[in-house]
Amino acid sequence: MADFQLAGRVAMVTGASRGIGRGIALELARAGAAVAVTARNLADLNDTVREIEAAGSRALQVTLEVRDRSSIRAAVPAVEERLGPIDVLVNNAGVQRLRLALDMAEEDWDCVLDVNLNGLFFCCQEVGRRMVDRRRGKIINVSSAAGLIASPERVAYASSKAAVLMLTRVLALEWAAYGVTVNAVAPTFVETELGALTLDRPGAREAIVSRIPLGRLATVEDVAAAVRYLASPAANFVTGTTIGVDGGLVLR
Ligand SMILES: NC(=O)c1ccc[n+]([C@@H]2O[C@H](COP(=O)([O-])OP(=O)(O)OC[C@H]3O[C@@H](n4cnc5c(N)ncnc54)[C@H](OP(=O)(O)O)[C@@H]3O)[C@@H](O)[C@H]2O)c1
Repeated sequence: MADFQLAGRVAMVTGASRGIGRGIALELARAGAAVAVTARNLADLNDTVREIEAAGSRALQVTLEVRDRSSIRAAVPAVEERLGPIDVLVNNAGVQRLRLALDMAEEDWDCVLDVNLNGLFFCCQEVGRRMVDRRRGKIINVSSAAGLIASPERVAYASSKAAVLMLTRVLALEWAAYGVTVNAVAPTFVETELGALTLDRPGAREAIVSRIPLGRLATVEDVAAAVRYLASPAANFVTGTTIGVDGGLVLR
């Protein structure tokens, strides 16, 4: 029988203060995992922690600025000291700066690449090193349909998300021999603060939904369900793959 449970496991979710990361943290808790939730400001994680505890699981809030390597190096051992070895890492923290390529300032480009790609990689490295030593672990990277389909004003964001898909494949290949799986999810638009940058523009929501074959936006729960699957024993033989959570958007 397929096993989607995570009882006795420890998960760490970056960018869990709101939006998709918060939903993922809650879903992993519902599956039975103890969950370390991270964001830049500890107090912003209070609501997520309350939800996890209400679901009957253990939660730990930890400060993590993914652009800062020393912050990553401090957060990971802090999680393991308090909750135990990390079985599941979800790299969800991400930012968007909508700019046409000719208007993209260096600081915006650097910010998007630093958070979405560099920060994600160094979280993978810090946790992956420990997982490789222990010969087990699952890493799930939150990419985007924007990493597969070109669209204007997303030169930094789309490039970072496309890079995450290849990073996922390379790490999957390097770490398969150590029993560590690395996969990605690639959602289409979700109603979050980040999604609102696009969806709140006049006419944008309707135009986007009209291009999605299943006829609606993705929800936080849609993304969290795909992550739960990849984090669970049911996905033990799945590595290097990307699950599109996009209602068929990339099929056209
Ligand atoms: N919403 C969409 O339409 C959509 C679609 C496809 C993919 N995604 C991806 O899904 C992920 C979550 O997006 P969301 O829509 O939930 O966005 P969101 O609501 O804006 O939340 C972003 C999260 O990332 C964290 N974060 C941002 N910068 C950070 C940094 N430098 N260090 C640590 N944490 C940082 C934020 O935490 P603090 O600010 O509290 O530190 C927050 O928890 C992102 O990777 C995004 O690219 C989103």
